[in-house]
Amino acid sequence: MSQPAIIEALREATGEAHKALETDIDLFGRVAETDSRRDLVARFHRLHAAVEPAVEPWLKDMPGLEFSQRRRAEGIAQDLSDLGGRPLTTRPPHVASAAEALGWWYVLEGSSLGGRVIHRTLLGQGKDLLGLSFLHPYGADTGDWWRRFVEVLDASDRREPKARPDVLAGGVAGFRYAHEVLCGD
Ligand code: HEM
Repeated sequence: MSQPAIIEALREATGEAHKALETDIDLFGRVAETDSRRDLVARFHRLHAAVEPAVEPWLKDMPGLEFSQRRRAEGIAQDLSDLGGRPLTTRPPHVASAAEALGWWYVLEGSSLGGRVIHRTLLGQGKDLLGLSFLHPYGADTGDWWRRFVEVLDASDRREPKARPDVLAGGVAGFRYAHEVLCGD
């Protein structure tokens, strides 16, 4: 089935960045040892804890988004605590408009699709999943939550087509930020 134009455009704009992140994050390597798993989960927490307040002013009342139910920082903090880690705080990035915020949120929301695949792979390999529940926050409802997010994106794109470059810029900035936080020194 064809996807809304805004999703195709986001994939086009961020596909390379996703590939680079997927390679550089070395997720399967890092979850294999307790210390590196704790560090990885601390970084995921930092990503979500920084981006959520940055987009909140723009997204919290957006119709159909159910923003507060999509927030994951608290759940990741619990995962981190299960691994004996403590949250690190960081300054929120600057997000300048609702359109940009949707692009940023595409990055965080889309990670639940990759996360579902990773979760399934680890489960299939018989690995323990302590501290990794954040990878698969919506469980069997992942597809529904994603579909509803895409509907919100699409509705906003149809309502305000001129803002599309800002949505794409948000997606690109979101991936750059995620790469820095998850893979940086
Ligand atoms: C080892 C790490 C990763 C792997 C193996 C991976 C893999 C995948 C896969 C297989 C999909 C498509 C899933 C589906 O269609 O059901 C996907 C989608 C996506 N992932 Fe990742 N991912 C990884 C990390 C991440 C991270 C850390 C982020 C962001 C922080 C991210 C953002 C996205 C986005 C935005 C999509 C949605 C793309 C779209 O459908 O438009 N991914 N990922």
